[in-house]
Amino acid sequence: MLRDGRLVAFGTETVYGLGGIATSAETVARIFAAKNRPVFNPLISHFPTIEAALHEVIASPISQRLAEAFWPGPLTLILPRHADSRICDLACAGLASVAVRVPAHPVARALLQEVGLPVAAPSANPSGRVSPTSAAHVLAGLEGRIDAVLDMGDCPVGLESTVLDLTGAHPVILRPGAITNDALERVIGPFARREAVPSPEENDAVLRSPGLMSSHYAPSLPLRLNAQDCHENEALLAFGTPFPDAPLIWNLSASGDMVEAAARLYAGLHFLDKTGCAQGLEGIAVMKMSEHGLGQAIMDRLKRAAAPRTRHPGHDASESLT
Ligand code: TXA
Ligand code: MG
Repeated sequence: MLRDGRLVAFGTETVYGLGGIATSAETVARIFAAKNRPVFNPLISHFPTIEAALHEVIASPISQRLAEAFWPGPLTLILPRHADSRICDLACAGLASVAVRVPAHPVARALLQEVGLPVAAPSANPSGRVSPTSAAHVLAGLEGRIDAVLDMGDCPVGLESTVLDLTGAHPVILRPGAITNDALERVIGPFARREAVPSPEENDAVLRSPGLMSSHYAPSLPLRLNAQDCHENEALLAFGTPFPDAPLIWNLSASGDMVEAAARLYAGLHFLDKTGCAQGLEGIAVMKMSEHGLGQAIMDRLKRAAAPRTRHPGHDASESLT
């Protein structure tokens, strides 16, 4: 189906992606339309091997080192596009750079190997909503808008890949993710670290990595971060020992384990949003957790989910595609 230019969602170790061949502008246009994603927000292309990924870009010694250290795995590298790259302009949103990644999930790699072409795969959720970590989440958001979903069970990592921009003089993290700052610095030494969440104004002005728009990953219920208690009309996203009086609870990790919390984050947001709305609750209280290591990426997503919802001109992809 992918080779025929159709849209197939599939699991990776991070989240489910909405796959389509990155070499066809028509297919990529249908990805944007299915997600209602603004066309200025470029897509990551996925490959089965390091060689296949680096073939599409102008690699550097640093990118080679990072690829060897972290691929296959949850790291996305932004690199200058090779002149002979087959990835279409629309997948890169017209930029001179391209995002590439080799996912670790063995089924995803086997699929990519079988397809034999770069596969563009943004997270398989409607634009601006919570990313999917199960086939059921994918269908809840996109049923009827995609051709198939390959059910690969729950995603083991549960948070999107770390996006590292290697096109400038120094590496810059555009999106914190499953590969932590410390892990990156062990391989390439100290480098610039982005502020966790830029202001909406800054976001709108810069749009360097448009997926960083502040209101992203948003459930429909509002989030209250670092809550010290849980109100009677709130669901609770707990970490450690939950507040006793919460009417609806999803515990990220009873033992306070960050890896478990990352893996359970999006499933928790999907669950509390759906069940909380059905029970007439009006918000989600989020207990405090560490911002170190994986906690940085978790808190990055929670802050975006809690940010005021912004609208962008041309946000409706069907509008901007016609
Ligand atoms: O874990 C992941 O990365 C998942 C799985 C499916 O691989 N994919 C994913 O894709 O999260 P998406 O489209 O939801 O996020 C891609 C991010 C966006 O923030 C986008 O703006 C950024 O990567 N990006 C892609 N190409 C870029 C480029 N050329 N320059 C800067 N940022 C880019
Ligand atoms: Mg996404």
